[in-house]
Amino acid sequence: MRLSVIGCGYLGAVHAACMAKLGHDVVGIDVDPAKIAGLNEGQAPFFEPGLPELLADSLGTGRLRFSTDMADAAGSAVHFVAVGTPQKRTENGADLTHVYAAVDALLLHLRPGDIVVGKSTVPVGTARDLSLRIADGCPGASLVWNPEFLREGFAVQDTLEPDRLVYGLADPANGAQLILDEVYAQALADVRPRLVMDYETAELVKVSANAFLATKISFINAMAEVCEASGADVSLLADAIGHDVRIGRKFLNAGLGFGGGCLPKDIRAFMARAGELGADQALTFLREVDSINMRRRSRMVDLTREVCGGSLLGQRIAVLGLAFKPNSDDVRDSPALSVAAQLQLQGAAVTACDPEAVPNAARRFPELAYTTSVEEAVQNADAVVVLTEWEQYRTLDPAALGRLVARPAIVDGRNCLEPSVWRDAGWTYRALGRPKAAAVAAAPVAVPATPVAVPAAPAAVPATPVVVPAAPVAVPVPLPASPLA
Ligand SMILES: NC(=O)c1ccc[n+]([C@@H]2O[C@H](COP(=O)([O-])OP(=O)(O)OC[C@H]3O[C@@H](n4cnc5c(N)ncnc54)[C@H](O)[C@@H]3O)[C@@H](O)[C@H]2O)c1
Repeated sequence: MRLSVIGCGYLGAVHAACMAKLGHDVVGIDVDPAKIAGLNEGQAPFFEPGLPELLADSLGTGRLRFSTDMADAAGSAVHFVAVGTPQKRTENGADLTHVYAAVDALLLHLRPGDIVVGKSTVPVGTARDLSLRIADGCPGASLVWNPEFLREGFAVQDTLEPDRLVYGLADPANGAQLILDEVYAQALADVRPRLVMDYETAELVKVSANAFLATKISFINAMAEVCEASGADVSLLADAIGHDVRIGRKFLNAGLGFGGGCLPKDIRAFMARAGELGADQALTFLREVDSINMRRRSRMVDLTREVCGGSLLGQRIAVLGLAFKPNSDDVRDSPALSVAAQLQLQGAAVTACDPEAVPNAARRFPELAYTTSVEEAVQNADAVVVLTEWEQYRTLDPAALGRLVARPAIVDGRNCLEPSVWRDAGWTYRALGRPKAAAVAAAPVAVPATPVAVPAAPAAVPATPVVVPAAPVAVPVPLPASPLA
């Protein structure tokens, strides 16, 4: 089938290449000439595992090409709209300028019977409005809302093998559903759930899924705050509650919180739209989800300051990780970049490294020193902070790294390192939501058999939890800079 994909960013470029892989004839269209020129040369405009190979493959078959000219969409039976829907500059709502511009430009080339398929994440009500516009501009063409659930880092696999397909339709009888089934025939052959619903529900499926995921992350990060205040360990807590199948362990890793081009702006746009609909009370909790998330960034800066002896001024900090998550070069609203920038702004000399995101990060925040080499970043560092849990950072050798730094102190912003391994190698290890020092795990002395030491006081856990005297705390831990410590 002939398809067009309008918008060739993280979503659209992958979608276009995957549709060609499935055997369709695809033209990807974007307003960015440099992106289109690169894509036609087989260059992925961002880091996404598997995409370069897929592009090379599909361009080689002649079934995939890219263009800046919307007229090239003419003749396609299905037109996917995958343009960006960023947060408006001065408010929480989504900026739909690109969606309307893309649909208006496409209208000039639509034919009756064509199907426009919305993939961008939009506020509820957008699809119905667009469907009226399309019906006006090209009677006989129709709109399906088909939200996208791909995860950056797994985008190729998620597009070729989606865990579900959602179709929002104006009228299930108009045939659009069958045509979209044909587009996705291979995925559907593997018996994937395909859920058909109205436009509004389809739009809400996407934003409510993101709201749920954001809430789950902020829930465990709120627990991390309480753990920090009480001396408990949020990682053990997450493991223990995660065994309950109703809760589950996924998306329950406490740390620096969520970021990227989707969750933050999507929950804000969701709140804004609920307000317009008079349902703002239903989503006031998302405001708290957002603030818990943002608080983690300041807590990370505070913790780093603590490890540096109370001041960041003149401290050499090695930042490991800049992308908002591993296996991506995306630094849009990246908690890692935000913390790295804060550390620098508060007087530290930051050398930041990331295997893929350095060019994007340097464009956004040119003041930092950047490298892709961990060894270079940690040279003579007073503290190392891990802000994105890339595999290569999770598996670092503390002994080898210890020989390069000025002071063996590490702050694990993603709870992705094993504390005992680092402490045993002589490092001061600190993490969000975990005790300052190792609890005595092997010997069951955390709670005395006869709790005579705790008379009337309700706080069974001392402010400073069980400290292992031998722990090589090389850096004095000063007064906590944050009330959470
Ligand atoms: N990135 C993800 O993981 C992901 C996952 C699911 C849904 N989404 C949603 O998909 C949409 C796109 O996200 P993205 O991350 O790919 O954004 P992006 O910024 O990477 O890509 C958007 C692309 O659209 C192009 N564009 C803008 N206006 C255009 C126009 N009028 N005509 C043609 N092209 C135009 C831009 O040049 C850009 O290349 C958003 O609504 C996002 O919320 C993204």
